[in-house]
Amino acid sequence: MTHEIAVIPGDGIGREVTPAAVEVLEAVPVSFGFVHGEAGDEVAKQRGDPLPEETRALAADADATLFGAVGETAADVVLPLRSIVDSFANVRPARAYPGLDALDPSTDLVFVRENTQGVYSGIESEITEGVQTLTRVITEEASRDIAEYGFRYAKRNGYENVTIAHKANVMRQTDGLFLETAREVGDERGVDYETALMDALAMHLVQRPQEYGVVICPNLAGDVLSDLAAGVVGGLGLLPSANVGADNGMFEPVHGSAPDIAGEGIANPAAMILSGAMLLDHLGYAEEADRVRAAVEDVLAEGPHTPDLGGNATTDDVTEAVLQRL
Ligand code: NAI
Ligand code: MG
Repeated sequence: MTHEIAVIPGDGIGREVTPAAVEVLEAVPVSFGFVHGEAGDEVAKQRGDPLPEETRALAADADATLFGAVGETAADVVLPLRSIVDSFANVRPARAYPGLDALDPSTDLVFVRENTQGVYSGIESEITEGVQTLTRVITEEASRDIAEYGFRYAKRNGYENVTIAHKANVMRQTDGLFLETAREVGDERGVDYETALMDALAMHLVQRPQEYGVVICPNLAGDVLSDLAAGVVGGLGLLPSANVGADNGMFEPVHGSAPDIAGEGIANPAAMILSGAMLLDHLGYAEEADRVRAAVEDVLAEGPHTPDLGGNATTDDVTEAVLQRL
């Protein structure tokens, strides 16, 4: 069986790390057909639309999408794509790797972020000049979906600690509903969990990350806390993510187009390659996914390292080393 994968490299380092992940996927014994699509700032400049219709169609029709990163058009590209692939959960693992400088070497976190609403619902308006408002949408249904996904993920993957992040003391109605619904799901399952105010949680994730496992979050909190966790484990070059729903999915690094290093060929491809491993998992190739992760881990432990990890290797050097180990 051949799986059709939509490949959307995007802008900046997206164009440098996406081919690395494709090469790695080509090296595992799974049959893939790759179809390429364009999106992002450059396409917007050329064609007036950052997400052309044919790219939307590619993502909608493919079995899964591999997405690099885009620049300033991120909200007009990433949000619609996540919705085109029908993903309600954004899964962002942040692990410490042997040989890298993490704040705590036993850190193993997974953010399970609500992917469709919250403050990213796109409902903003100008009340009058100088006054802008934003509508934060939280529904019981979406809160239940993400909580069920998070608790199921924790069980399947052997995480003992589940934390529900919220700010229900201030956003009483919206996060009140999120918290109440997520608690219900935990209680129905009869499992242990804790709840945490997201600001205090940010501090605790830095001070004692080893005490946390799966963190179930509303949309914005998940976005911010996962970048914070990237800092805890050694940088954005290490964090992959999966946008998953019922069936289809989109797999992308947490990082953006990194204009400060784009074009230099020194972006760390680990996050993108690990996103490819999450794609393999999603399609049911757990063993192949583990092999890719093991190869990346070996390279992270022994080098070569790109400059973000203190080395002077290029994207190609690291990709080649991963392919060698595979
Ligand atoms: P960023 O993730 O692009 O970069 C933040 C910092 O991390 C930079 O110093 C960058 O060099 C470094 N970095 C990120 N990935 C790296 C990698 N693989 N290897 C080595 N270093 C890496 O975030 P920033 O600077 O906030 O945003 C830059 C652009 O990216 C903006 O236009 C933003 O809108 C866009 N963006 C797009 C996203 C997406 O497409 N999903 C997500 C986040 C930002
Ligand atoms: Mg982000």
